[in-house]
Amino acid sequence: MPNQSSATNPRRIRIAPSLLSTDFAHLAEAVRACEDGGADVLHVDVMDGHFVPNITIGPVVVQSLRKITSLPLDCHLMIKHADTFIPAFAEAGADWISVHQEACPHLNRTVNLIKSFGKKAGVVLNPATNLAVLEEIIGDVDYILLMSVNPGFGGQKFIPSLFDRAERLRAMLDAHGRKDVFIEADGGITLSNIKEIFAAGVDVMVSGSGVFGEKDVAGTIQAMKKAVGNNE
Ligand code: DX5
Ligand code: ZN
Repeated sequence: MPNQSSATNPRRIRIAPSLLSTDFAHLAEAVRACEDGGADVLHVDVMDGHFVPNITIGPVVVQSLRKITSLPLDCHLMIKHADTFIPAFAEAGADWISVHQEACPHLNRTVNLIKSFGKKAGVVLNPATNLAVLEEIIGDVDYILLMSVNPGFGGQKFIPSLFDRAERLRAMLDAHGRKDVFIEADGGITLSNIKEIFAAGVDVMVSGSGVFGEKDVAGTIQAMKKAVGNNE
């Protein structure tokens, strides 16, 4: 069973709806529904057609989102040459910026570049990437994002190795004295598996089709929080 010190230090779940699963012609309405449901963060998927086989959102969209919400914007960069684009995302109003370990040969430089803009810096791992690659960067990050699908598309099936990976990552963070680093998971998260994922040690739940595929977006976000016993 996962190790949770629930009595003394209850962990708070945070829901990060992924805007990729919305109708982009009605982005503002989707943001409003997220706010109504008590979403904690908005997840913005940035794809370049090189690192992943899809193209999505750029800094101009982040700039527009920034004007209509005060929720933190969590920009998940699935791109090569992240250093070239990080300043634009930071200036557009991103609050959290994460980059893939697999796409960043100079990861220490990239993470510190994100932090130089005063943003939270995250490192993302694909499902098949060994957690050991994090050993030398754990001291520098604010959060780790574990993919529970192969990145590129919304609506894919959850890969259950996430459970074991999250538990091992939590142990690794504890061993490094980094209890402040939060774990985010992304891909295939729905109301039906969220409780188990939280129990494995994940703090921030990205959910695209699990939220926007439902009729009642706000109600689904609320239900997700309730499912882990958190009504905030
Ligand atoms: C996948 C993206 C995800 C995606 C999640 O590459 O990083 O954020 O939007 O969508 P669902 O929740 O539908 O798997
Ligand atoms: Zn994502």
